[in-house]
Amino acid sequence: MTDPLRLGIAGLGTVGAGVVEIATRHHNLIAHRAGRPIAISAVSARARSRDRGIDLSAYAWEDDPVALARRDDVDVFVELIGGENGAALEATEAALAAGKDVVTANKAMLARHGQRLAETAEPKGAAIRFEAAVAGGIPVVKALTEGLAANEITRVMGVMNGTCNYILTRMEEAGLPYEEVFAEADALGYLEADPNLDVGGIDAGHKLSLLAAIAFGTKVSFDAVELEGIGRIEIEDIRQAADMGFRIKLLGVARMTGRGLEQRMSPCLVPADSPLGQLQGGTNMVVIEGDSVGQIVLRGPGAGRGPTASAVMADVIDLARGFRHSTFGRPATSLSDPVSARAAAPAPYYLRLQLQDKPGALAKVAAVLGEAGVSIDRMRQYGHADASAAPVLIVTHKTTRDALDHATRGFAATGVVVGQPVAIRIEAV
Ligand SMILES: NC(=O)c1ccc[n+]([C@@H]2O[C@H](COP(=O)([O-])OP(=O)(O)OC[C@H]3O[C@@H](n4cnc5c(N)ncnc54)[C@H](OP(=O)(O)O)[C@@H]3O)[C@@H](O)[C@H]2O)c1
Repeated sequence: MTDPLRLGIAGLGTVGAGVVEIATRHHNLIAHRAGRPIAISAVSARARSRDRGIDLSAYAWEDDPVALARRDDVDVFVELIGGENGAALEATEAALAAGKDVVTANKAMLARHGQRLAETAEPKGAAIRFEAAVAGGIPVVKALTEGLAANEITRVMGVMNGTCNYILTRMEEAGLPYEEVFAEADALGYLEADPNLDVGGIDAGHKLSLLAAIAFGTKVSFDAVELEGIGRIEIEDIRQAADMGFRIKLLGVARMTGRGLEQRMSPCLVPADSPLGQLQGGTNMVVIEGDSVGQIVLRGPGAGRGPTASAVMADVIDLARGFRHSTFGRPATSLSDPVSARAAAPAPYYLRLQLQDKPGALAKVAAVLGEAGVSIDRMRQYGHADASAAPVLIVTHKTTRDALDHATRGFAATGVVVGQPVAIRIEAV
């Protein structure tokens, strides 16, 4: 066997401790598969004395991850600190400046700085690998960059935030309102320190922007992702969707349209009997469509110690094998600046409104929709306790988000619509 590949691991939390554990437990298996041993030279975290349930005595300790990244006995810097900026970014930059390879699970950092980091790494021959940053244990980056490399990708979609899927599933199964399930998820420790990263769709949006870059050969453009979280979904929406044979999912969709790159992370209705509709609880799913392969569906754990560490180690093993490719599957300098197309593809929409219980109210709403060019497929009123306002459900024919927004803005002038309407796209999956 040849010389070991030497790792410096920064961050020994959920993922970092998992990586140390796998690298130790499967040392021989990994050495055989990689063709050379993988050795940990040094580690770094904030609190040296913290008991992490793993034996760190064989490794050098660095308080400063930047110093770790620069060590001569580190070939691959494994960044598992997290955060868009700060220590994670500084240490990654230091590793790349020293010409070292980087493996990271940090979608926030890559969504923001991925292009610049790739442009720093590639002229030096350094690799940045980030399988663990997207959909945890699911090898989706590998699927796109390798298995599907001969395809023109037409669409990538997925449920990529397990916490949101858990909340929506639990609301449906237990018939509980959003606020109550959110509090449960918080008590179970499922939410990020800033819960908006989860329920606001930001975390899943970061992941989508990375997949879009690989799939469409465009620079990572997280700011162009249309983001809408799950906070406005009511139990009534889940019930009405179920009644029509749908489930509500926080769904990411990226596709190249004639008008440009569409990237959105928003609640969508999907058929309850489709693979995405069947996805319950904290599991993730990514659906990729290519011109030659057709549609493939990848499903699995999107987070957690074991699955995420598994993805990190797969990247490390690739580097040990000498298997290298550009960060986003083609040279960073060849990635194009995407023209962003806001929800370009038309779709039917689910629209829930509260209408004042007055004669002619429905006709006024229908007229506003008609003027905006939005035609109605189905419309119904359903039972309500509040005598002054009646909930109305409308399913539109295919329309654009712009036309629908134009109509919903027009509702204010009717004087019969109470509060803000809820509009949810019905996605063909
Ligand atoms: N957890 C998951 O399931 C999951 C899934 C996919 C991707 N990820 C990504 O993986 C990364 C790590 O997540 P995690 O859940 O393992 O986080 P975590 O449990 O909070 O661990 C973070 C680690 O970073 C260390 N750290 C923080 N600031 C540091 C600094 N300035 N210098 C050195 N070390 C520092 C912490 O040290 P102390 O332990 O001493 O405080 C801790 O060991 C993040 O980018 C996250 O988005 C996580």
